Amino acid sequence: MSVAISPGTIDVRRVREDFPILDRSVRGGGRLVYLDSAATTQKPLAVLDAERDYYLTSNAAVHRGAHQLAEEATEAFEGARARIADFVGARADDVVFTRNATESLNLMAYAFSNATAKAAHGAPLPPGAERFILREGDEILVTEMEHHANLVPWQEVCSKTGAILRWIPLTPDGRLDLSSLSDLVTDRTRVVSFTQQSNLLGTINPVAPLAQAARAVGALVVLDACQSIPHMPTDVTALGVDAVAWSGHKMLGPTGIGCLWATPETLASMPPFITGGSMIETVTMEASTFAEPPKRFEAGVPMVAQAVGLAAACDYLDALGMGNVAGHEASLTAYALEGIADVPGVTIVGPADLVDRGSAISFTVDGVHPHDVGQVLDSSGIAVRVGHHCAWPGCRAMGVPATTRMSPYIYNDTDDIDDFIQALGRVRQVFGEA
Ligand code: ALA
Repeated sequence: MSVAISPGTIDVRRVREDFPILDRSVRGGGRLVYLDSAATTQKPLAVLDAERDYYLTSNAAVHRGAHQLAEEATEAFEGARARIADFVGARADDVVFTRNATESLNLMAYAFSNATAKAAHGAPLPPGAERFILREGDEILVTEMEHHANLVPWQEVCSKTGAILRWIPLTPDGRLDLSSLSDLVTDRTRVVSFTQQSNLLGTINPVAPLAQAARAVGALVVLDACQSIPHMPTDVTALGVDAVAWSGHKMLGPTGIGCLWATPETLASMPPFITGGSMIETVTMEASTFAEPPKRFEAGVPMVAQAVGLAAACDYLDALGMGNVAGHEASLTAYALEGIADVPGVTIVGPADLVDRGSAISFTVDGVHPHDVGQVLDSSGIAVRVGHHCAWPGCRAMGVPATTRMSPYIYNDTDDIDDFIQALGRVRQVFGEA
C-alpha cells in the first residue's frame, strides 16, 4: 500500500500490553483482531484496577452515609466527575452521570416532554423552563444519519407534544446535504440534535454552521458525541452547543456510565427525568422540590465504580494525548480506506477519503450479505460489526439494508488492517462470487 503511516504517534506494542484480552485466541487458536471499537472499546488494566481498588477499599453508597467509607466513596465519585469534566474542558457541576449516551439523549428529550406536560396544567417548573415547552407545530430537527438513540427519543417527544420532526438528508457519499438548511431551520425550530461523528458512516459533521443556524432562531442544540469524544481532543464549551452526550464504554471506560454535559443555564432550567432518592430538595406526601444540577438528574445510588473507572480511562487517554490518538486513527483510516478500495467487489458506504471522516468504515461486498461477511471475517479472528448499526434510516438513505463495519482504535496497527484486508479478499471466493 502507498499510504504513509506517521510513525510514533502511538506505541501500539506498548499499548497492547495494557489490554490482555487482545492476546487471547479465538475460533480454535486464531489471533484476535479486534476492529469493533465503535461498538465498544476494550479496557486497559488501569481501568480494571481502578474499579477493583474502589470496591476493595472504599465501596459505599455516596452522598448518604455518616461513616468513613461513605465519605471516601463520595470523594471518589465527585473526584471522578471533576476528572471526566476536565477531560472535555468542562466544570464538574455541568456534567451529569447517566447509564450511557442513550440515557443522556433521553434526558434531554424528556426535558421537553415533561416541561410541556407540566405546563399544560400549571405545575411548577424551574425558572427558564419556557424554552422546553413545545407547542403543536413546533419543529425538532435531526439528521438522516442519526443513531436510533438520537432519533427515537425525539420521535417520542413529537408524538407526545404535537411537535413535528424534520431531518437533514444525506448526500450519496454519506455527508449531510446542507443545501436546504435555511428551509429546514425555521422560526418554529426548537431543537437541533445531531451527531458529531456518524457511527454508521464515519462522517464528521460540521458542528459550527449547524449550531449557528440553530441558535439564530433560538433553538437548543444537542450534540451526540459518542463517536467523537473518544477519538479527538474535545472542549465542549467551545463547540457552541447547549448539550453534549457521550458514553464511557466507547473510550476505554466501563459499561454502565454515560455523561451529559450542558451549559449551567440549560441544566438549571430543565425539569428532572428520572425521579426518586438523592435528586430531591424537600419531600412531603403532596409534592417534592428538586436539587440543583447535577444531582437533580441523578436519582438513586449512582454508578460509582464506573465513574472511577471512566476517570482512569481519561487519565490513560490523556497520557497518550488525544491529538496523538486522532493522528494514529487518521493514519490507520487512510491505510484501511486504500486497502478496502483495492479489494474487488467491495464498496465503501460513507466518505471514501479522509476528509472529515473518522475511523469507523462501513462497506458492502457484492453478492454477500453483511452477516455472512462478518462470519467469514470472524472465522479468521477478525471482530467487526454487521447490521444496520442502530441507524436504519441512514442505511436506507444510502441504499443498503445493512453493512459490515470495521472500527480501529489505539491498540490496532497496520498488521491488524493487513489481516483484515486479506480476510476481506477471501469473502467473495467463499461464496463463489469471485
Ligand atoms: N452504537 C454502537 C455501535 O455503533 C453500539 O456499534
